[in-house]
Amino acid sequence: MKTPSTPLTSLTIIRPDDWHLHLRDGELMAAVLPFTARVFGRAVVMPNLRPPVTTAAAAAAYYDRILDVMHPDIDFTPLMTLYLTDTTTPAEIERAYRGGYVVAAKLYPAGATTNSDEGLTDLKRAQPVFEALAAHGLPLLVHGEVTDPEVDIFDREAVFLERYLAPLLDAIPALKVVLEHVTTRQGVDFVLAGPDRLAATITAHHLLLNRGAMFQGGLNPHAYCLPVLKREEHRQALLRAATGGSPKFFLGTDSAPHVRSTKETGCGCAGIFSAPTALASYAAAFEQAGALDRLEGFASLHGPAFYGLAPNRDAITLTRCPCPVPPSVSAGEAGELVPLAAGRTLAWSVECPTRGLIHEG
Ligand code: NCD
Ligand code: ZN
Repeated sequence: MKTPSTPLTSLTIIRPDDWHLHLRDGELMAAVLPFTARVFGRAVVMPNLRPPVTTAAAAAAYYDRILDVMHPDIDFTPLMTLYLTDTTTPAEIERAYRGGYVVAAKLYPAGATTNSDEGLTDLKRAQPVFEALAAHGLPLLVHGEVTDPEVDIFDREAVFLERYLAPLLDAIPALKVVLEHVTTRQGVDFVLAGPDRLAATITAHHLLLNRGAMFQGGLNPHAYCLPVLKREEHRQALLRAATGGSPKFFLGTDSAPHVRSTKETGCGCAGIFSAPTALASYAAAFEQAGALDRLEGFASLHGPAFYGLAPNRDAITLTRCPCPVPPSVSAGEAGELVPLAAGRTLAWSVECPTRGLIHEG
């Protein structure tokens, strides 16, 4: 697709949702939540707290804590998830479904990423839990990386697809599955070739950055996340997938805040904090591909359709207005956070009828 000769000066789309978000808890949550809630109508909230959100009761309590710190004028709905462990029971899935807050369950292979130690060690043992999810139409959200130390970190997603995801899809024919934060050409091809009940989220940072970003001008811990950034050919495949119009791909920021002191240290945490700049960053990626007309489908329509929900009813406007991104944002006593594109200027700013022009930070 070609870039139009006169660039758009503004773009109004149905309010988007974030289908993969880490909100954390306590003071850190209070600091990061407004960045998401002012732009997105809903967000799928990841359950990898310490301790993880493993029960319907814990998900309901977490939901309440989110609403407690939300500005009363803001219309934002957290969609909760359940963290699957080796001891999760089908009865717990049933309780979560009936409770009404939980929209999906999260499969972390044990040890694959931040706070995943209590994740699943044996997918076969979890079959009854997967059956219960399928019975209630709740999607399984998959962190798709093997943890086998023999497998190179850049190959962990591709190996997961063949070793675990293909057999899982065959074993539970009614299970809806989202391959979260897909990062490779192999992942994109796998999702496109799979059944309609298989979809994937794509982050803004995997659309904009390749693995070179981690080493540009020195070691850059703020570009380190899991799954790790990949080669340029994979970024190009993700761009084609996100902008190609397929309803199997939708927006999931994987915004994963860690305070500066835990990123800039001897063994830094994985995660990119993209919430303050996410939508403008997706717009930059879509513009790069000459496909701004496809942003609404990806950001606002494909996700709700997959989850069986209606799109949001209001709209949001992106304006071509240089948006300076601060070098960091405060998380109070918790520390400070370095957002995606820190210190740079983005081409787009976000505006909404009720909340005015949003300058990030
Ligand atoms: C996430 C986190 O920090 O919770 N980190 C990340 O790099 N994406 C965990 C995850 O989604 O893998
Ligand atoms: Zn995540």
